[in-house]
Amino acid sequence: MKILVTGGAGFIASHVVDRYCELGHEVVVLDNLSTGKTEFVNKKARLITADITDAAAVTQIISQEQPEVINHHAAHIQVGNSVKHPQFDAENNVIGVLNIMQAAKEIPIKKIIMASTGGAMYGNKPTPFTEEMREEPLSPYGVSKRSGELYLNYYFEQYGIPYTILRYSNVYGPRQNPHGESGVVAIFSEMLAAGKTPIINGDGTHTRDYVYIDDVVNANALALTSTEIGAFNIGTTTEISSNEVFQQVANAFGVQITPEHGPERPGEQVTSSLDYSKAKERLGWEPTVGFAEGVRRVVEWYKHDKK
Ligand SMILES: NC(=O)c1ccc[n+]([C@@H]2O[C@H](COP(=O)([O-])OP(=O)(O)OC[C@H]3O[C@@H](n4cnc5c(N)ncnc54)[C@H](O)[C@@H]3O)[C@@H](O)[C@H]2O)c1
Repeated sequence: MKILVTGGAGFIASHVVDRYCELGHEVVVLDNLSTGKTEFVNKKARLITADITDAAAVTQIISQEQPEVINHHAAHIQVGNSVKHPQFDAENNVIGVLNIMQAAKEIPIKKIIMASTGGAMYGNKPTPFTEEMREEPLSPYGVSKRSGELYLNYYFEQYGIPYTILRYSNVYGPRQNPHGESGVVAIFSEMLAAGKTPIINGDGTHTRDYVYIDDVVNANALALTSTEIGAFNIGTTTEISSNEVFQQVANAFGVQITPEHGPERPGEQVTSSLDYSKAKERLGWEPTVGFAEGVRRVVEWYKHDKK
């Protein structure tokens, strides 16, 4: 199958590209390299450097490449920055989706898979979040991701383009950008690898649901052939505090250190975890890598493979 993967030079989608290449698919990556890296792009895939906010470029690439599937991961992903710059966030995450879909409706496309957020979608509600809960995002990032989802549904209803939306919890694994704001496993690992003291935002009791990259890749592989339409939570239902993340990463590095604490960030939820029973039932997906094992793999990567 020919698959266009947007954001395929970034953390999550570069791993998805690896799997799609392994499965024997022809993969084209569209990425503006704003946070992605060329060295993350699988040698078997072809990289086109372009921006999803550029409607003319997106139209030209999609009509020329004629992919059977589009896997859309390119996005602005920083919650805090979306609070400061909501227009920039919407430009990437709403207009970007529209540019892709306007081009996709002109070709005989089989389906679109889109990365969305489970962590920033439901607002402050009792956990774990289910897909039946009302979407009440607390940040412009959550709002823009929800808008992208609604547009996908519109293009399904209007033009018959099937879609699968994967609402991730907090994804972690090798290649995650440690200079962003959300990947605390990567941030703490980078600091500890450099012999520095990590800073935890707030008192460290806020919790998140951490899902390992290999499990997220499995979800993208299953979505490729699934005929299920809709949005699916991809998480573990397990809540882990920032303090606990720090301890696990420090243990994996074999260091004993007391972290510093900084101010809480705006737009952040207190807690989040995802019920994944819908994905289990309809996609046959469930998480397989526990948090301690996942952290161990990340730290091994920091010690041996990271250049
Ligand atoms: N990391 C997480 O925990 C998490 C959780 C929920 C959802 N997601 C979603 O998963 C997707 C990938 O996130 P990630 O963590 O791998 O981030 P990332 O920053 O590593 O990857 C994003 C990729 O998209 C590219 N990109 C950004 N803006 C672009 C644009 N305008 N045009 C073309 N390319 C552009 C970047 O260069 C990068 O390669 C995003 O859609 C994000 O919203 C991530």
